Amino acid sequence: MTVSADPKELLELATRLAAEAGRALVRDRPRDLGVASTKSSPTDIVTVMDQRSEKLIIEGILAERPDDGILGEEGGSRAGTSGVRWVVDPIDGTVNYLYEIPMWCVSIGVQIDGETVAGVVEVPMLRETFTALRGHGAWLNGEPISAHSAQSGGQPVPLERALVATGFGYAAQRRAVQGRIAAELLPLVRDIRRAGSAAIDLCSVACGRVDGYYERGTNPWDIAAGGLIVTEAGGRIGGLRGAAASVEMTVAAAGGLFEALCEFLEERSADRDS
Ligand code: IPD
Ligand code: CA
Repeated sequence: MTVSADPKELLELATRLAAEAGRALVRDRPRDLGVASTKSSPTDIVTVMDQRSEKLIIEGILAERPDDGILGEEGGSRAGTSGVRWVVDPIDGTVNYLYEIPMWCVSIGVQIDGETVAGVVEVPMLRETFTALRGHGAWLNGEPISAHSAQSGGQPVPLERALVATGFGYAAQRRAVQGRIAAELLPLVRDIRRAGSAAIDLCSVACGRVDGYYERGTNPWDIAAGGLIVTEAGGRIGGLRGAAASVEMTVAAAGGLFEALCEFLEERSADRDS
């Protein structure tokens, strides 16, 4: 039976499970880890560790909150009856995990009646835990973070001085368009970063490690936790033409740069694949 839907308690459970999953992902990674299966394209991979991590997290949620709903990237979804839904990416940055590049994470967002109220992004190899609680702030290892870049003294960062993270989808046609748009952006900004994990990209915006981020094709599990971490750190997240962030387009940055990035992307119809 559901005991409570106190966002603080939900965040505590999310943080504990993300840490447990992170430890297991480091400890139990087989030396000869390979690709277990592919999804939308031959490069959209799943490893046994994605599956084990999702299982560990879902079992942990249901042991304490059997009436909650779950949306898990690797298929572990169920409808709930409590109004609470957990949006889980058991490894965001699976290609990095496969190649032993440290930029991968466990991302858990918790929604009440469709609104994300708590989120955690656990980055085990960097020993970093990003958390946010709606209305209360965002933290990195317990210290408050801000999306207002220290490099600009808290002033809005103009496009020409912005360090912008982005990502590319798994479908060749979509990538061709994304590559063209990134090539057009490159001469207009300080530089571009492609870290390989959308959730980490959002946390990087939230703590000012990059100034902005955009990507077409993000799924709810990529952005549920990181999106709240951005807004609670004082940044903005959305789609183009005033829409909410979605699979069509996700843009995140502090105010000022957010609008400039949206304008650049809107002018090029960056929410299309052709
Ligand atoms: C991917 C990563 C990547 C982004 C892709 C995502 P996955 O998630 O977040 O940075 O560019 O769009 O699908 O497949 O590693 O969970
Ligand atoms: Ca994933």
